[in-house]
Amino acid sequence: MEKALISPSILAADFARLGADVADVQGCGIDYLHIDVMDGAFVPNISFGPDVMKSLNGTATVPYDVHLMIEDPDRYIEKFVTDNTEFITVHYEACSDLAATLEHIHSLGIKAGVSIKPGTEPEVLDEFLKDIDLVLVMSVEPGFGGQKFMDSSLPKISYYSKKKAENGYSYLIEVDGGIGPANAHLVREAGVEVIVAGSAVFKAADRKEAVAAIKG
Ligand code: DX5
Ligand code: ZN
Repeated sequence: MEKALISPSILAADFARLGADVADVQGCGIDYLHIDVMDGAFVPNISFGPDVMKSLNGTATVPYDVHLMIEDPDRYIEKFVTDNTEFITVHYEACSDLAATLEHIHSLGIKAGVSIKPGTEPEVLDEFLKDIDLVLVMSVEPGFGGQKFMDSSLPKISYYSKKKAENGYSYLIEVDGGIGPANAHLVREAGVEVIVAGSAVFKAADRKEAVAAIKG
């Protein structure tokens, strides 16, 4: 059976006890921490900025997987660079010169991710795939946690999995939104390598069990 890595989204944590929540899920076998940054412009919600992420620097034992849901992300990329930052992911729809943004992220010694919204066709990334370290397929409209999984994400995951095998690309394939123990097998079977899960991990009665079930 296919296995995947997991990147729990701290958007679903209890912000009043963020450090304790993060320390707790880190004891459950997680691989990354997913940092959902929303600007109230690219998406209709505001989450938190780099200082909240940095408040976890002393607690984080797994790398940050930063998901910037912000317009013109180049303005803020430097602010998310820390020793713990492994990936900074921007949205294809939010960048006017994606090649330049990828170069910008790489110039800081950080791996570059690109995300596509549910309405965006996977082929738009074809010309960039050789320079991308992580492809993030959204399986909900970005903006809120706790939404229903859209299975239109499955053929997109398969598309990037096939492209990767055919061309020997090195990017990781990640999916984000509405995933939990009951449906994680669908994205794993489609070829996903990293699963983002917010509510299904932080709000689980047994977080360790939820993490294990999602990873497969
Ligand atoms: C949505 C965010 C997701 C979301 C995942 O804009 O990018 O990371 O918080 O949360 P769940 O797993 O609750 O759908
Ligand atoms: Zn996300």
